[in-house]
Amino acid sequence: MSLPKAELHLHIEGTLEPELAFELATRNGVELPYADTEALRKAYRFEDLQSFLNLYYELMAVLRTERDFEDLANAYLARAAAQGVRHAEIFFDPQAHLARGVGMGTVVEGLWRALGSSEDNHGVSTQLILCFLRDESADSAMATLEAAKPYLDRIVGIGLDSAEVGHPPVKFREVYEAAAALGLRRVAHAGEEGPPAYITEALDVLGVERIDHGLRCMEDEELVARLVRERIPLTLCPLSNVRLRTVDVLADHPLPAMLDAGLLCTVNSDDPAYFGGYAGDNFDAVGQTLGLSEDRLRELACNSFLASFLEHDEERRAR
Ligand code: HPA
Ligand code: ZN
Repeated sequence: MSLPKAELHLHIEGTLEPELAFELATRNGVELPYADTEALRKAYRFEDLQSFLNLYYELMAVLRTERDFEDLANAYLARAAAQGVRHAEIFFDPQAHLARGVGMGTVVEGLWRALGSSEDNHGVSTQLILCFLRDESADSAMATLEAAKPYLDRIVGIGLDSAEVGHPPVKFREVYEAAAALGLRRVAHAGEEGPPAYITEALDVLGVERIDHGLRCMEDEELVARLVRERIPLTLCPLSNVRLRTVDVLADHPLPAMLDAGLLCTVNSDDPAYFGGYAGDNFDAVGQTLGLSEDRLRELACNSFLASFLEHDEERRAR
């Protein structure tokens, strides 16, 4: 499926394929607790979000230098381009790197080496979204925003990810206010494993423009009506939902019901190296398994540009 599309929910660290993980481990002298790529792939069986996050953070140990981040981003951009992605708004998790002694500059400059030339090299325009880890403290998030200040010309906005339950959006009120004052756009993961109330709180307390996942809004009719009325985009990740057991099987995914309800849904890959597919693979899977018509798939692709942070003239060029 190569409908032109924008990818709005993509963690760059979640694009680390086993082959590249081993290559970087060798390059950096990092020992991985897996014999080979096959053994590593076998570990990709997740019970829930936390069991995935454990492996996701463990493998980041191989990312050490600017060149590592550049290689990671270039590998993603090449795969994304091949699947019709024309624009990508890319999350990164600086706290996970700062905690390992890898500086903000290494991460941002390394990613930028790939992103800065991505339109020429891959035909994909890009933006970077700095995510705070919600299972870390609010003070740590504020310190991370401070550390990002020299790089704000490269960062379009902020997001909130990692373990959701027990870490409500309100915990990050001050850092979102500070980011807004710096002119940064705001998004947050909400309603993946956490309750619908976290979606409402992300909108009302954090002032987010988009909700990442938002799947559990379907448990609250009034919330659905509000999301429809206010045209709040949801960045859904169907293959991720299956792998993390948010839905039992893809055939049970509420995407068709969400579209029927009038929600502004987009389809994205989240952590494609771990969840079995990139953006086009997610489109293919929902098309086939959920029986979405060509028109519905086109609507999803169109929504991805509407929900993006592209200005309208850039949006037209990307199409
Ligand atoms: N949810 C929350 N945090 C994450 C995810 C996710 O799907 N992927 C990477 N960090
Ligand atoms: Zn995510």
